[in-house]
Amino acid sequence: MANPFTLGVASGEPLPDGVVIWTRLAPAPLTLDPARPGGLPSRAVEVRWQVAEDERFTRIVREGVTQAQPRWAFSVHVRVDGLRPGADYFYRFRSGSDHSPVGRTRTAPDAASAVPVRFAVANCQRYEHGFYTAYRHLAAERPDVIFFVGDYVYESPQAANPVRTLPNTSEADTLAEYRLRYTRYKLDKDLQAAHAAAPWVATWDDHEVADNYTGAPSFFRRRARAYQAYYEHLPIRVKPDAHLLQMFRRRVYGRNAEFIVLDSRQFRVPGDMLGAAQEKWLLERLRTSTARWKVLVEPLFFARRFVPGNPPNLRLDAWDGFQEQRRRIFDAKAGGLIVLSGDVHNHWASDLRADFLDPQSPIVGAEFVTSSISSRPPSTDAPAVLAANPHIRFFDGRRGYVSGTAGASDFRVSYRVVDSVEKAGANVRIVAEFVTEGEGIKRSDV
Ligand SMILES: [Fe+2]
Repeated sequence: MANPFTLGVASGEPLPDGVVIWTRLAPAPLTLDPARPGGLPSRAVEVRWQVAEDERFTRIVREGVTQAQPRWAFSVHVRVDGLRPGADYFYRFRSGSDHSPVGRTRTAPDAASAVPVRFAVANCQRYEHGFYTAYRHLAAERPDVIFFVGDYVYESPQAANPVRTLPNTSEADTLAEYRLRYTRYKLDKDLQAAHAAAPWVATWDDHEVADNYTGAPSFFRRRARAYQAYYEHLPIRVKPDAHLLQMFRRRVYGRNAEFIVLDSRQFRVPGDMLGAAQEKWLLERLRTSTARWKVLVEPLFFARRFVPGNPPNLRLDAWDGFQEQRRRIFDAKAGGLIVLSGDVHNHWASDLRADFLDPQSPIVGAEFVTSSISSRPPSTDAPAVLAANPHIRFFDGRRGYVSGTAGASDFRVSYRVVDSVEKAGANVRIVAEFVTEGEGIKRSDV
């Protein structure tokens, strides 16, 4: 049998005492036979795993054996516990005589920690649109944690003028088609490097299922197929139960940051992006969290963004379409509110004002919108948008990611871009850095 570890390794969901480690066996990854995902026959396969304090595995602290099941496309999710807080670990898998690559992960710090948290944010990686060069650079940063804010795959038919081509060019709809989409994406070595470099905490947007889908029952069956494929390919703690998958959650990083991860699709109905239960939970977290920074990790542009020209001037599938819910989030008066978002395939940064229509109203937080890893941007008249929205402070129209540090006294971000995604190996550069100390964004020169 060929080496089954073609899709790399990953870790995620860091807690002070543990992480989830992931791999998926796929010796023939792009096989088109839906009865043999990854090219394997329908029986469970034994997989051994190890976690060590050092990259050469001389100090192994946890190990075990698990079964990769055909029901879950031979994916493996191991919840490793008993680890030390705020510590690096290395992990690997073995099946028969084949070894996986080695991944590096890191636990969250303990509750009393004031050590600055080094994070990165990425999203929107449409395969046909370009190379994942940004991930190669992100991996080299080895942050404590990587947040992914949606569009891990695109269900859409293959794009026009593809930089890279898909094995299945029609829109994904069956479980086999969703699996094949993830498989093609995950064969990318730069994406594998980003997973092997640090633990991920991911949420989704719409394209993991269907363009602009909502919580309507008409989507339940397709959603169940898409959610299953999502689980099979990401290092998350919980399995889907048919069309339901518990996605909103929090990850606490000591005293500095509580990352509040939102699900903006599963429970969405007209006028309500989050659903009653998630909103109640969110407002409770904002009111009671004692962390210096309360960080919303979610896909969609949060600040008001009026686009001059032909109506509609506000995008109604982002937070401008849910203004009453956004108002209730501000009314929780969190203090130290930060939003990390994406979706729009360009970099933006914005002050959050209690009343966006009143430039004198108090600044209540900051939003850092991350550009796409590869997905093409819409055409944007950035000077006109900046002029029409004084609270929006920054725009860059290139692909890239954001990295930053949540410290005890300030919250810093760097905007990174790559020169091109149409050819491999482009350089990355920092195009802006911002510091916020709780009174809005201060620009610092680069
Ligand atoms: Fe996207």
